[in-house]
Amino acid sequence: NWNMKNFVEDQVELVRRQVGDKKVLLALSGGVDSSVVAALLLKAIGQQLVCVHVNHGLMRKGESESVVSVFRDQLSANLVYVDATERFLGKLAGVADPEEKRKIIGSEFIRVFEEEARKQEGIDFLGQGTIYPDIIESGTKTAKMVKSHHNVGGLPEDMKFELVEPLKQLFKDEVRACGLELGLPDSMVFRQPFPGPGLGVRCLGAITRERLEAVREADAILREEFENAGLNKKVWQYFTIVPDFKSVGVKDNARCFEYPVIIRAVNTVDAMTATIEQVEWPVLLRITDRILKEVENVNRVCYDLSPKPTATIEWE
Ligand code: XMP
Repeated sequence: NWNMKNFVEDQVELVRRQVGDKKVLLALSGGVDSSVVAALLLKAIGQQLVCVHVNHGLMRKGESESVVSVFRDQLSANLVYVDATERFLGKLAGVADPEEKRKIIGSEFIRVFEEEARKQEGIDFLGQGTIYPDIIESGTKTAKMVKSHHNVGGLPEDMKFELVEPLKQLFKDEVRACGLELGLPDSMVFRQPFPGPGLGVRCLGAITRERLEAVREADAILREEFENAGLNKKVWQYFTIVPDFKSVGVKDNARCFEYPVIIRAVNTVDAMTATIEQVEWPVLLRITDRILKEVENVNRVCYDLSPKPTATIEWE
C-alpha cells in the first residue's frame, strides 16, 4: 500500500543506492521543493549532502535566516550560506528593464553557485527539487521561468553532475505531505510561491536600497497581518510592490514626496489566469495603517484590483 511514509523510506533507500559514499550538492533556495528534497536527502545521506543557500539580497524579511535556522541549527545539515547581496545589487545598479533584471539575477545566481561548487571537494551528484509538473508542463511560462532561475543546467561543461531527483513523481500537494512527513515546519511546507528574482521584480525599475527596504518591510507587515486574519492559507499569492515614482503627501504637518506601496493578493489554479482576493476592508485598513506608520519613505498605500488577464500577477 502506497503512503507517504513508505514513499520516504523507498526514496531514502534508492538515494543511498544511487549515491553510495559520494557527495551531493544542492542549491537550497528555501522554496517548498528545494526544502523538501533537502530534508529527504539529509535523511538518506546526512553529511554527504552539501546544501548551498545563496542570498541574493532580494529575499523576503527573515527568509534566509529561517533557511539557516531550520537546516543548519535544527537539522544539522551541512549548509554553506552565501550572502551575495552586494554582488547582486552591484550588478543590478541602474538596470530598469524587467527582463534584463531577470537575466542578471539568473546568470549571477549560476555564477555564485558555480564558485561554491568549485570550492567543494569530490562532488559527483547534484540534487534537484524537480517535481512531476516540472516535467509534464515544461512548456508553460511558469515552469520555464522557475527553471531559468533555479535550474543549474547552466553550469559549465566540466561540471556535469549526475542528477538526484527523488521528488520527480510527486504533485505539489504530495511534495507538501512529504515535507510534513519529514518534519519540516508548516511555514516552509505551505510557503506561498515566490519568484526566483524575488523582491527584485517587486521593486520596480532600477532597484535602490531605499525602495528595496520599503518593499521588504511592507511585505513582512502584509504577511503578518494575513496570518493574523487567517488569510495566509486561503490566498494563493500575496505581496507588495514599490514603484519607482513618488507622490505628494503630508507628514507631521509638512509636505512630503515619497513612494507608494501597492498591495496584491490573488487566487489561481495554474498561474495562467488569476482573480483578486476580496480582502475585507478592516484587514486592508489595518495593513495600510501599519505600513504608513512603520515603513520609511512611504506615504501612500494602494490595492491592485486587476485580474489576470489583463494584468499579470507580478508587476514586472
Ligand atoms: P505572472 O506575473 O507572469 O506570474 O502572472 C505568474 C507566476 O509566476 C511567478 N513568476 C516567476 N517565478 N521566476 C520565477 O521563478 C520569474 O522570473 C517569475 N516571474 C513571475 C509569479 O510570482 C506568479 O506566481
